[in-house]
Amino acid sequence: MSGRRDGRRGTARPAAPKLAGPKPAAPKPAAPKPGGRKPAASKPATGRPAAASGPGRDFDDDDEDWGFEPGERDSLTDVPGGVRLQKVLAAAGVGSRRSCEELIGAGRVEVDGEVVRRFGARVDPRTQIIRVDGKRIPASEDLVYLALNKPAGVLSTMSDDRGRRTIADLVADRSERLFHVGRLDYETEGLILLTNDGELAHRLAHPRYGVLKTYLAEVRGPVPRDLARRLTTGVELEDGTVTADRFRVVEQAGSRVLVEITLHEGRKHVVRRMLAEVGHPVSRLVRTRVGPVSLGALRPGTSRRLSTAEVGNLYAAVGM
Ligand code: URA
Repeated sequence: MSGRRDGRRGTARPAAPKLAGPKPAAPKPAAPKPGGRKPAASKPATGRPAAASGPGRDFDDDDEDWGFEPGERDSLTDVPGGVRLQKVLAAAGVGSRRSCEELIGAGRVEVDGEVVRRFGARVDPRTQIIRVDGKRIPASEDLVYLALNKPAGVLSTMSDDRGRRTIADLVADRSERLFHVGRLDYETEGLILLTNDGELAHRLAHPRYGVLKTYLAEVRGPVPRDLARRLTTGVELEDGTVTADRFRVVEQAGSRVLVEITLHEGRKHVVRRMLAEVGHPVSRLVRTRVGPVSLGALRPGTSRRLSTAEVGNLYAAVGM
C-alpha cells in the first residue's frame, strides 16, 4: 500500500448518548518565527517607494509595496491585478497581516514551489498554490471545506429521487456545489466531509491514498481478548480480506461493548460486515474521524467549516 496515513490516534467520540467524546483537534496557528524580515516599524520614514506611486496607481496604505532587500528577489512573476501575498495569507486564517509578513520575511512561504520573501508579491489565490512551512493553505475564497455530523436515517447523497432526507438537506443554506467525500450507510452516523474542491474530494475518497477512517461501534459482547489480533491480521469477506489498522475496546458493559476501529478501506458496509464476520454484529456505528479531521463535539445534523490547519493537513494526507 503506497498511500499515506495520518497515523494519529482517534480518541474522539460522537456527540450522542453514551458516545460523547473529546474536543476536536485544536487548529495550530502558524506562529511566526523570530529572525524574519524587519517589522513594519523599520520601513522608510518617507513612506511608499517612489516606483510604486506612478500614474494610475491606486494607493492603499494598507496595501503598500515595501519592496525587498538586496538578494531577496525571487523570480515569481507578479500577477497583474493580483492580491498581496500577506493579505491572502491573512484572509485564509493563517494569522494577522503582520504575523503573515513575518512568515514571508522568514522564508516560510512558497508560491507555486518558490520561496517568496517579498511583502509586495501579488498572487492569484484561485490558481496559485501557496504553502506555509510546506503545508498548503486554502487560499481561494471560493473553496469551502465542511465537516458534517450525519445523523442516522439520512442518505449520504446530494439528492434522492424518492424524496428521502439527504445530507444536502443539512447544508441547504450553502450555495456552493458541494461534493461529499465518501459515504456512510443510511443508519451510520458521524463525520462526512463536504467540499467544492473536486481534486481534494477525489483523492480523499481514492483507495490509493489510504486515508484512515475511525469508527465507534456498539457491538454484541463479550469481546474475546484476541479480537484485536484477528481484526488487525485480516478478516475474509466475500469481496476479499479486510484488515483493521487499529482496534480497541473502549467500554464493556454486560452484553453491549463499545469498540473503536480504524480502517483505510472504504468498501460498502465494511465495518458492519467485518465485525459481524467475527461474531460481533454492530447495533450502532458512528464515524469519528477522517484522516486528520475529528468529529469532536459537532451536534448531529450540523456542520462546521474546517480550520486552515485541518485543510492543510487534508492536503498533506493526499499529497497535494
Ligand atoms: N462501514 C460500514 O459498515 N458502514 C459505514 O457507513 C461506513 C463504514
